[in-house]
Amino acid sequence: MKSIVVLASGNGSNFEAIVKKFREWKLNVDVKELITDNKDAYVIKRAKKLKVPVGVLDFHGFNSRKEYNATLLSHLERLSPSLIVLAGYMRILPAFIVRRFERKIVNIHPSLLPAFRGLNAIERAYKSGVKYTGITIHYVDEGVDTGEIIEQRCIRIENGESLSHLEKRIHRLEHYYYPRVLRMLLTNHF
Ligand code: GAR
Repeated sequence: MKSIVVLASGNGSNFEAIVKKFREWKLNVDVKELITDNKDAYVIKRAKKLKVPVGVLDFHGFNSRKEYNATLLSHLERLSPSLIVLAGYMRILPAFIVRRFERKIVNIHPSLLPAFRGLNAIERAYKSGVKYTGITIHYVDEGVDTGEIIEQRCIRIENGESLSHLEKRIHRLEHYYYPRVLRMLLTNHF
């Protein structure tokens, strides 16, 4: 049976959308675990409610970034999922994890890459004056938001639209497409 693990650091709305859609579709894919680096992340509450096992690797409880990432690697190797899904995971995966799971790690980013890589992408796009922005789903490589693009969807920023309204529309787009793209990668069915 195919399986995924999801890595998330904060709110977890994408994680929840993925779990709910996979269940609704009765997809034969096991969501093995939600892994978080943040012991206070709201995503933990969502996972518990959805009865998905939670792995908390509290970043601040480790002596170094290297120690944290080494633990994360062995945790991922033990779970051995078909795909590692980043959904608002706010740390950069080191090269030794990326290489170990080449083309098995997928990320979602709230802009049309290569535009607005990195943090606060929605707000930076909004303030830049561009008329179109969107979402990108891509494989993770050793750079920051530079991996091979799998899917992109764009939306027009309406005249006079508020940032919070744009954020809502971006998240809606993410929640619609991320589960579908993952399903395609796992089953070849979009
Ligand atoms: C999402 O908008 C995702 O695209 C973004 O974080 C948000 C997480 O929301 N990811 C990045 O910016 C990665 N560079 P969620 O926790 O509610 O799913």
